[in-house]
Amino acid sequence: MSVAKFFIPSVNTLGTGAVDSAADDIAALGFKRALVVTDKVLVEVGLVAKVTAKLTAKGVETVIFDGTQPNPTVGNVNAGLALLKEHDCDFVISLGGGSPHDCAKGIALVAANGGSIADYEGVDKSPKPQMPLVAINTTAGTASEMTRFCIITDEERHIKMAIVDKNTTPLLSVNDPELMLDKPKALTAATGMDALTHAVEAYVSIAANPITDACAEKAFTLISDNLRNAVNNGQDIAARDQMAYAQFLAGMAFNNASLGYVHAMAHQLGGFYDLPHGVCNAILLPHVQAYNAQVVPERLAKVAQFMGVDISGMTDEQGAEAALEAIRALSKDIGIPANLTELGVKEEDIPTLATNALNDACGLTNPKQATHEEISALFKGAL
Ligand SMILES: [Fe+2]
Repeated sequence: MSVAKFFIPSVNTLGTGAVDSAADDIAALGFKRALVVTDKVLVEVGLVAKVTAKLTAKGVETVIFDGTQPNPTVGNVNAGLALLKEHDCDFVISLGGGSPHDCAKGIALVAANGGSIADYEGVDKSPKPQMPLVAINTTAGTASEMTRFCIITDEERHIKMAIVDKNTTPLLSVNDPELMLDKPKALTAATGMDALTHAVEAYVSIAANPITDACAEKAFTLISDNLRNAVNNGQDIAARDQMAYAQFLAGMAFNNASLGYVHAMAHQLGGFYDLPHGVCNAILLPHVQAYNAQVVPERLAKVAQFMGVDISGMTDEQGAEAALEAIRALSKDIGIPANLTELGVKEEDIPTLATNALNDACGLTNPKQATHEEISALFKGAL
């Protein structure tokens, strides 16, 4: 038996109208001027203006930093931090998907602790809580709006740094499905598969416990039942709402049970080739779980069951295979690319990718620890 620690923001707002409720909460907290960390697309589509207007109406000033790249970099963090200091902001709001949340965590952590974000790579390296962070989510999702995980690309080393730190936990998380409408199909598909990957990796993690299991099991069902609808009709508010809950539940699971080799490997693809996180995860997920089925077939059989497969009469191994099938079918239905070759991944880069994946903190809780050769074989199998 080991001690389970459960991390989550102290207040979490979900459902239609959550963003209005959050504006009231922010005003009540007494903050004066926010650095709003977002990206250019969300500025262009008017979503940033829509949210900042609600804050202005409550007497909260906003300074916009829209320089977050899809895989946020050390340079992005430094640029946002400079703007925060220039305008003397007293808190940070992240508005967007995983990239703005991670970038904002980097900014808020360094604002309070000094140094460079690279100093905090690893687990719980920062001494002090970050500057207060309110995370308003627009995708479902990375769950970064409610986790203690912050992934920042070191653009010089071409790697993603995993900063897993309780001090990066936002103060308040906001999931309003109305902010998730209009998202492109490919983004909805990729982020939804990221959420499924979180749930699966947390479920087979060596740090899983009854709380994280309950969260993951519900996430499997909600994603299996709603992701296709959210992708096919972006305006389906019910599907968007259920996916918001699903990704939040998956976040509760992995924030506390951690992840595995899918993420450890996907981070390297993202850092090396600047590829979308969710797509890398979706492609790697069945490959890594086929490897994990050697040690936890019974857990994977339960994944199949919660995804709606009738596993009665199946052995654990058959159930695990059914889970892989259900995952592949979902990926195919929502248009995820079939393999890493389609993304431009090159076989000659695999030794480096495998070395970096083995250094990623996310792999520590994978149910079977792999050799460099085995990780390389998993990458090759996914080409
Ligand atoms: Fe993820």
